[in-house]
Amino acid sequence: MTYCLGLDIGTTGAKALLCDAQGRILATATAEYPLYTPQPLWSEQDPADWWRGAQTALRAVVAQAGARASQITGLGLTGQMHGAVFLDEQGRVIRPALLWNDQRTAAECAEITERVGAARLIEIAGNPALTGFQAPKIVWLRNHEPENFARVAQVLLPKDYIRWRLTGVSGADAADAAGTLLLDLRTRDYSAEILDKLEIPRAWLPRVFEGPEITGTLRPEIAAELGLPAGLPVVAGGGDNAAAAVGTGIVRAGVVSSSIGTSGVIFAHADEIALDPHGRLHTFCHSVPGRYHLMAVTLSAGGAFRWLRDTLGKAASYDEMTAAAATVPPGAEGLLFLPYLTGERTPHLDPLARGAFVGLTARHTPAHLIRAVMEGVVFSLRDGLEIMRGLGVPISQVRATGGGGRSPLWRQMQADIYGAEVVTLTAEEGPAYGAALLAGVGTGAFRDVGEAVERCVTIAGRTAPNAATQDKYLPIYTLYAGVYGQLRATMHALARV
Ligand code: XUL
Repeated sequence: MTYCLGLDIGTTGAKALLCDAQGRILATATAEYPLYTPQPLWSEQDPADWWRGAQTALRAVVAQAGARASQITGLGLTGQMHGAVFLDEQGRVIRPALLWNDQRTAAECAEITERVGAARLIEIAGNPALTGFQAPKIVWLRNHEPENFARVAQVLLPKDYIRWRLTGVSGADAADAAGTLLLDLRTRDYSAEILDKLEIPRAWLPRVFEGPEITGTLRPEIAAELGLPAGLPVVAGGGDNAAAAVGTGIVRAGVVSSSIGTSGVIFAHADEIALDPHGRLHTFCHSVPGRYHLMAVTLSAGGAFRWLRDTLGKAASYDEMTAAAATVPPGAEGLLFLPYLTGERTPHLDPLARGAFVGLTARHTPAHLIRAVMEGVVFSLRDGLEIMRGLGVPISQVRATGGGGRSPLWRQMQADIYGAEVVTLTAEEGPAYGAALLAGVGTGAFRDVGEAVERCVTIAGRTAPNAATQDKYLPIYTLYAGVYGQLRATMHALARV
């Protein structure tokens, strides 16, 4: 029997997971670490905390594995995307890492757009310059901390810093590297044109591997310390969204996932590069070699639902809230909700977008508000699906994960509003699971990613759209889709109050 390990360097903590070659999960462990906000809009972590978290989680999984630990054949890495870890010539961390949700780089995004050209950026890297991505963080360091910038010898993504500590190899995977904005999506290697225009040395960046490729082996002293086999191969893995997609089987055209966590993500596999010329969707490389993926992001999805729960002040459980929403008809009797509580990425790319209830009457009860919020979140995710459909991405099945997969009402609402079958999976362990499967592919437990998914990812339930409800939602979605344009100027004025 062979076993595979996955390690996720997330934003709230590190998670390690062990599974066998049938995808059965045998052990998981997590270790949390802090996030620092030293100034408004800043979001940082200490890479030393990631390293301690990784060691703690791996040790805990090895302890649970017992004798099976000696049969572990590969370790795959995944983690939060986009962050920048700056290392000096000796490999020492120069300053805390800037994270994916750090918003300090608006001026650097404008500078990058000016230097490379808005259309050219999308053509080469698949995306516009967004504050979260890694490239603006490098430019920020040059503009604001020249003494730190002068010491830089290497810039790594969060999980690749852990790879470097584990193996001594400076490597990245194509999916995560695409989130730097420095990658040419076609060659799946860095773009000389973008690097030249931004004056970023190629030598600072790690070599790019495909997701299942072996990047190096565990350093002997680390293997001994963690109780892992000497010479354990460490596989490239993927950014957290791409790795999670491997774990939910989004590795072929037609199947997409809809995840409702704090934010909401629609993730689609693409055999070929599909670019939204307006940059409303992210296009990145996939963890499946040679393939791509599209991502639409609603910033407040489950977050809007939690906001409502906290605001109603009744300490209702999510189950009580969805039970109340189920007593209200589709469309919440003329009440619409725009979920832009923290601005919006897809489809508006507008940090100043604001949330709104539209159509309130004296007849509406808390149950109507709850239903309207749920529907608003799903309408927003449908906006992402519509852009994908417009780019020719086929959508025959939606795999619901996160809170939106657990509640029967969310599932039915998604089927009716998306107009597609919604399915749930038996195992939903997130990015660490996908990373473990990629480790299995890279070390021969599976022939390729397709076989890993076929063997390990199984459907637990199916929800078909209800034709009558689907028809009812059509005109309501059209109304929803028109509201942002009508309120945009007011939202921007209010954001400045
Ligand atoms: C993706 C993104 C987040 C991070 C955090 O573009 O910013 O999903 O990967 O996990």
